This record gives sequence, structure tokens and C-alpha cells, in this order.
Amino acid sequence: MSKRILRLNETKELYKDVDFISAIKEINDDYYKEKGIKKKALIFTYGCQMNEHNSENMISLLESMNYEMTEDQNEAQLIIFNTCSIRESAENKVIGLLGHMKTLKESKDDLTIAVAGCMMQRDDPRNIILTKYHHVDIIFGTNNIPKLPELIYTQKETGKRVLDIIENYDLVDDIPEYNRLYSHKGFVNIIHGCNNFCTYCIVPYTRGREISRKPEDIVKEITELANNGYKEVTLLGQNVNSYGKNLDRPCSFSELLELINAIPGLERIRFMTPHPKDISDELLEQYGKLDKLSKHLHLPVQSGSDEILKRMNRHYTKEKYISKIEKVKEVYPDIVLSTDIIVGFPGETEEYFEETLDLVKKCKFDFAYTFLYSKRSGTKAAYYEDQIPHDVKLERFNRLLDVLYDIGNEKNTKLIGTEVEVLVDEISKTDDTKVSGRTDGFKLVNFVGTSDLIGKIVKVKITDANTFSLEGELID
Ligand code: SAH
Ligand code: SF4
Ligand code: F3S
Repeated sequence: MSKRILRLNETKELYKDVDFISAIKEINDDYYKEKGIKKKALIFTYGCQMNEHNSENMISLLESMNYEMTEDQNEAQLIIFNTCSIRESAENKVIGLLGHMKTLKESKDDLTIAVAGCMMQRDDPRNIILTKYHHVDIIFGTNNIPKLPELIYTQKETGKRVLDIIENYDLVDDIPEYNRLYSHKGFVNIIHGCNNFCTYCIVPYTRGREISRKPEDIVKEITELANNGYKEVTLLGQNVNSYGKNLDRPCSFSELLELINAIPGLERIRFMTPHPKDISDELLEQYGKLDKLSKHLHLPVQSGSDEILKRMNRHYTKEKYISKIEKVKEVYPDIVLSTDIIVGFPGETEEYFEETLDLVKKCKFDFAYTFLYSKRSGTKAAYYEDQIPHDVKLERFNRLLDVLYDIGNEKNTKLIGTEVEVLVDEISKTDDTKVSGRTDGFKLVNFVGTSDLIGKIVKVKITDANTFSLEGELID
């Protein structure tokens, strides 16, 4: 029998005097006293860095309620799926995994399952969870993260399934940042949402319209990070260079970078993601002026064909894009360049695809994130009639990778023998005698070293090159 879903506003009056964080903490403390172990929580995160950062915020909240994070679903009492809708495959994966959760839940008497993130902002996947996945106890959207304690409390008190979704983007600044994934580099949201409506993209429907955070709030957050020993920040937004337009006192993205560059102790500034239509010469010139600005530009192009770019609603041409890349190379010749490319957008002919290959060869990207076009219901391109067959998409995709790999190899090989500065992130994933980190230009470098180097910037000599990473030796 299906249990009716309860919305948080139905219990708002009832629980108006409850301090949800303290209440859950008390329950969890009692559990600890009784069992001698803490209650455990697990978050599965899909999608972009925005989602990663949202999960970091959730971890903060969970830890403040005395949950301990785990990676083992069998020992967790709370499992949260922080979902992504960007491609159909990302959604299908979660739907499949949630199916398996039913068996896990039946085998345990105290497991709570929650689904959050972009999928829950969309009617279709949300309705599947509501009507078919009755073992999911809590559903909340991208704008409702601060409500997590209230959701957990209400679900526990009422024993009902609970839902909270809001369409308007509430800034989540008030979430305490007790916990971040790393203690030397942090993500900082500067702008939420997106106004661009690229015809293939679901994000404007899941993250709402653009809202910039105030520059003083951003500077304060980063100053605190720097005071706590953080060396690097990545400024996040779906379109970072349209930052500042809606502020009472407008501040351009370029001006924001200047403010952040002046923060003492901070060493590197990265940002994700700029849009080519809004990238100003003033911003590109900052690569020659701001010493902390990482010498890496990730500028998603999507296609090299003017016709396809028009149908994607991207508002720039191939020539305009190339001119931006040439400009930044003039300012800083060794800049590391990367991009996003969609293959097989509706109406992409062989000739149009070759325009993309040509653009890739001209720009010489160090690397690229490449995607097969995926139809997203509700977006304009999903209704275009000239969809491309899967096998054609795949064949083009492989040809694109060949070109990208050749350029990547060539560019990385040129770095052999050079000395670079690496901010060490972690023990290498492939060899535990090594550590890995990133150069200022975002190149991944592995070298023999120990965990005491994590969080430090060290000099490394490059000794070998792979397509996506470099090998090196620590210089004393
Ligand atoms: N806001 C950023 C990134 C958005 S999502 C930007 O504008 O560039 C990251 C990437 O996913 C996009 O750049 C695009 O290349 C890809 N993407 C988005 N929607 C897609 C779809 N429907 N099919 C395939 N790839 C898609
Ligand atoms: Fe999607 Fe385009 Fe917005 Fe990027 S700019 S999030 S691709 S709509
Ligand atoms: Fe995915 Fe949502 Fe990010 S759709 S890419 S998690 S904004």
C-alpha cells in the first residue's frame, strides 16, 4: 500500500519550536550511548562540481548532527542520492541503483533513504520515485539542502515519507561549512542557476535563474579559508562570467577576481565555468595581471559549426570563439586550454562535425570533456526532428577522441624536462608509493612521495608524459 507523501509545510506549525539539528543530534547521541558506535551516513554524488559542493554542505549538516560518514552502504543508517539530470544515462543509473536499495532496506530495520539533487527538480523522475519507489523516505530539491535536519526529523517523528521542493533558488550561504572534502583547496559558489537556455541543456530547469552572491560574502568566505591554511579556491557557477549583473552594486567577474587575488595567504584561483559569449577582453587580460589566477582556461565550445551553435542557442560563432582563444594565448602563451564538446547534436552533418574537428586542431586543447548528445525531455532540442542515430554519434565521438588524444599527448610530451609547481592533493590512485596533485595549469602530476606532502606546493621535475597525466620527480 502506498504511503501518502507529507510535505514539510504541513508540519511547519507543529514543529515550529523544534531546533532540528539539536533534536537529531540528541537521538544520534543516544544511539551512540546504547551501541558504542555512531550512526552512519553515506552520500552518493553524481554530476558537476556544484553537486559535489552541495554534498559537502550536506556532510557539514550531517556531522553537526553527529552522523559519521561512511562509504559502506551496508553499515549506513542514512543513504542520500544527490542526483544529476544532465544526460539520460546519469538518471537511469540512479533509477537502477534505487531499485537495488529496496532489497537492502528490507534486510535492515533502520535504514532511511533520501533522494536529492537535480533529478528531484524534474517532474518525470520525481513522479517515478513518488509512485514506484515507496522505499524512498525523503525527497528534496537542489534548493532545500538547509532543510535536511527538518526532513530527517519529520520523517522520524511521523514515520511518513516526506518531501520538500522549492522552485525559487534560496541561497544556501547559511549552511555551516564545518566540513570540506579537502583542507587545502575549497569550492566556493559565486553564482547560482543559469539564464542561458542552451537548447540541449536541463540545468536552467533544475537550478533556476541566475543569482549572484554578494562580493563581500564571497571575499569573507575565501578569507576565512585562506586564514585556515587553504591555498586554492575554485569559484563555481554555471556561467561565472555573467557574475554580478543582478547585484545592487554591480561587480563584474573580472573585478571579483581582483578582490580575491588580493586575499593574503591564498595562492591559486580557479573558476568553472565561463561562457564564450560573455567572456570579455578585460577578463582574458587578467591572465597577464593577476598572479594567483591559475593559468588554465576551461571554455566550453560544444561545437565548431556556426549552424549547430545557432541551433544550440550559444550566441557565438566558431570564428569568435577562436579569436578569444587566440587573445588569451597572446596574453599568456603557455596557458592550458580545455573545453566541453557535444557530438551528434540534432542536425549535425558530417560537414558540421568536421568543423568541430577543425576547431579542435586550431585551438589545440590540452584536454576536453566530450559527450554524446542526450535528449532531455522539456528542452527545445529534444523536439528537433533531425536526431542523429546512435552509431553515427559513436563513430564521430571516437574520431574526435583520436584527434584530442594526439594533441594531448603532444602537449604533455613538450613538458618533459620542465620544472613545475604542484599542489599535492592525495596519495596517487594508481600507486600508493606516489602522491598526485595539480600544476597551476591544472595538469595532473604523479611522483614518488608521502602523505606529509598533501596540501603543500612543491617543485617537481617532469620525467614522463601520458595523455591525461604527467609523471615527475620531487626536487628538494
Ligand atoms: N554551465 C556549463 C556546464 C554545463 S553541464 C557550461 O555552460 O558550459 C556540462 C556539460 O555537459 C556541457 O558543457 C555540455 O557539454 C554537456 N551537456 C549538457 N547537456 C547535454 C546533453 N543534453 N547531452 C550531452 N551533453 C550535454
Ligand atoms: Fe546549460 Fe548552457 Fe546554462 Fe551551461 S550555459 S548550464 S550549457 S544552459
Ligand atoms: Fe547535473 Fe545538476 Fe550539475 S544536472 S551537471 S548536477 S547542475
